[in-house]
Amino acid sequence: MAEEAKRMAAYAAVDNHVQNNQAVGVGSGSTMAYAVDRLAERVRLEKLNVVCVPTSFQARQLILKHGLNLSDLDRHPELDVAIDGADEVDSDLTLIKGGGGCLTQEKIVAGCAKRFIVVADFGKDSVTLGQRWKKGVPVEVIPMAYVPISRTIATRFGGEANLRMAVGKAGPVVTDNGNFILDWTFERAQNWREVNVAIKMIPGVVETGLFVDMAEKVYFGLESGGVTSRVPQVN
Ligand code: A5P
Repeated sequence: MAEEAKRMAAYAAVDNHVQNNQAVGVGSGSTMAYAVDRLAERVRLEKLNVVCVPTSFQARQLILKHGLNLSDLDRHPELDVAIDGADEVDSDLTLIKGGGGCLTQEKIVAGCAKRFIVVADFGKDSVTLGQRWKKGVPVEVIPMAYVPISRTIATRFGGEANLRMAVGKAGPVVTDNGNFILDWTFERAQNWREVNVAIKMIPGVVETGLFVDMAEKVYFGLESGGVTSRVPQVN
């Protein structure tokens, strides 16, 4: 059910937001695998001229596997659109990302795009962050600083920030950038805009998995089989 929902959301985003002669940011994760399938299909059928900028090793592999044009931010610093998954989306379209550890490159690529479009299944649609996603906010950190950063986050914002450990390898997860990840399980709702900036200012923090005011539209694949989309509410 969730897989079909991911596929539906991914296909809708690619169909509605990718056009000929575009530079496209390609996000990471299992939902994005469906988006790249659809992108490759459209490129083949419609003979689209599209270049793809990846957000991770995994995204790069997907682009290469499908024979799509691989580029980078050196050659395409301005992207027409970036499409990516999320771990959780709240009612303001604030996102938690980085469940797959790719948050830093994902945020860089999204920040270079004129439009940032998110694809997700129904299980990620929350009113407030933490309602459904229980693994916390990922924070990428320089390895030598992980202990002081963990202590600072817990002291200032509550909860716990734990070093993410690898599966199938002894020791911590090492990101595509050679850094560590702390997963901050927070205890209460926060002002995410302020917390994002405050955590980012701690020396040794590379990036947070909080994406505030970045998503222009989120496509959710529904349990019932359809797709719905949301844009930020105007306050
Ligand atoms: C990768 O680090 C993440 O930000 C992914 O975009 C996010 O975890 C969504 O992944 P899935 O589509 O696999 O759930």
